[in-house]
Amino acid sequence: MVRIFGPLVGLFFAAALLWSFGVGVVQQIREPDPSTAVKDFHRDPKEDVAFSFDGPFGKFDNRQLQRGFQVYKEVCSNCHSLKQIAFRNLADLGYNEAEVKAVAKQWGTKAKTFDAKTGEAGERANLPSDHIPAVYYAGTGNPPDLSLITKARHGGAHYVYSLLTGYTTQPAKLLKRYPDSATPDGLYYNPYFSNLNIAMPAPLTTDGQVTYSDGTKATVDQMARDVAAFLTWTAEPKLEKRKQTGWAVLGFLAAATALAYLSKRTIWANLH
Ligand code: HEC
Repeated sequence: MVRIFGPLVGLFFAAALLWSFGVGVVQQIREPDPSTAVKDFHRDPKEDVAFSFDGPFGKFDNRQLQRGFQVYKEVCSNCHSLKQIAFRNLADLGYNEAEVKAVAKQWGTKAKTFDAKTGEAGERANLPSDHIPAVYYAGTGNPPDLSLITKARHGGAHYVYSLLTGYTTQPAKLLKRYPDSATPDGLYYNPYFSNLNIAMPAPLTTDGQVTYSDGTKATVDQMARDVAAFLTWTAEPKLEKRKQTGWAVLGFLAAATALAYLSKRTIWANLH
């Protein structure tokens, strides 16, 4: 019985598969997916920029991370929170204790306090143990918290860099082909954004918008790279450790494989 039913069931599934494939193909020929502005004009993140942490031996460049933090602090923190990061974490970027304390103390938004006895809300200067205070944004759109953004978007740092440097005017070709797709008021055309029109005005627009203390020239391109690198660190501060551990594990496995091979040779040495 099984010998008859087995192949029959198999044939049934094979036929079902072929059938649904055929139906799909016929549908696609009769009514192909409509082309859309996003399909034609959306661009993948630029891959031609190199970051120091790319690749299996990648490492963070602390000076770049510090510059990126400065860009976040002076530009992005007007709209975006970074709630997963406490001031004391900045020690990872090479700041000493006094510098971390000073950054916390001088941060524009103060820490909120609450007196449980009187019920009064108040404010105090931030301490190194405080997280970077949340930002409340009153403009159009919802600026997402940036702590994990490089993990949340395909392309990570490359995406953030591309988005920041990707603002441009809407191509005439797009408007000609899709007259209904003009960028609405209050939004900005950016081919790297998922739906082409983003609520964030270009945040980095002029060279020298921040003044780097290490003498690096703050071009728009440089600032975009630096802040993208910084946001990679916020999302994965242990990236270097992960890569190093990976190599150690591979080394261990290679050695264990060699040992296993040698012991196999010893054990079977007398048998031919
Ligand atoms: C004037 C406010 C403002 C400033 C300054 C600003 N942003 Fe934004 N940002 C926004 C808003 C609003 C959105 C949401 C856009 C949307 O969903 O259309 C956003 C979205 C984003 C996104 C997410 C895009 C996505 O794929 O969803 C990233 C990444 C980002 N901003 C990075 C930055 C960086 C880095 C800086 C600093 C260099 C910065 N922003 C400065 C307002 C701002």
